[in-house]
Amino acid sequence: MQISTNMKTDIIGEAAKIIEDNPVVFDEDFLLEILKVRFRWPKKSIEVISNFGNGSEDFFDFRYQSLIFDKWYELYSRGFTTMLNNCLDIHPDMRKLETLLLHYIGEMPTGNLYMSSGTKVNRPSFDLHSHEYNVVSTSIYGNTKWLLDPQGGQFSNGPIDIKPGDQVIIPAGTPHACIDAPEKRCSLTICLG
Ligand SMILES: [Fe+2]
Repeated sequence: MQISTNMKTDIIGEAAKIIEDNPVVFDEDFLLEILKVRFRWPKKSIEVISNFGNGSEDFFDFRYQSLIFDKWYELYSRGFTTMLNNCLDIHPDMRKLETLLLHYIGEMPTGNLYMSSGTKVNRPSFDLHSHEYNVVSTSIYGNTKWLLDPQGGQFSNGPIDIKPGDQVIIPAGTPHACIDAPEKRCSLTICLG
C-alpha cells in the first residue's frame, strides 16, 4: 500500500512504483553482520538518534576510524534508533534499486536505513520536520506509526499505521515524523531530487 498526500503520477510517483516493484528483502541478522565489517562504517555513516534528537557517534574508534560494534550494540539493544547513512551499496536488492532509479531519474538517489530493536521509551526518530527533497520511505520489517502532514490534508486525523512493505511518500516540504516504533524495525528512506 502506498501512503501519500496525493496520488502522484509524476517522477516521485514513478520512482515510488519502481521501489515498490523491486522489494528490498533482508532481516536484522543481515544488518548485524554487515555492521561487523570493520572498515565499512566511517564517521557520519552511522549515527544513533539520542533522546535529545542528536546524532550520536559515541561508539566510534578514532584510532582506526571505525565503528566499535559492541559499543554501538549496547545502544541498539536498549532500543535507540540507528541511522545507516548513504548505504545503498550494502545489499544486492538495494544496489539493483539504486541502478534502476539512476536509469529512470538520471541522478543517483541517496538511501538511508533507520533500524531499531524496538522501543516504547526512547525516541523512535526525529520530531515532525520537512525537507527540500522528496522522500520515499519503505518499511522492510516491523510496524511503525507515522504522522504525515498532520495540519494539512487527508492524514490529519492522526497517526498512520505502516506495515512491512508499505511506503510513505513524502513530497518536498511535507511535514512528517515516525512517532512510534515499538518493535524490531528497519525502514529504507530514499531521498530523491
Ligand atoms: Fe525526514
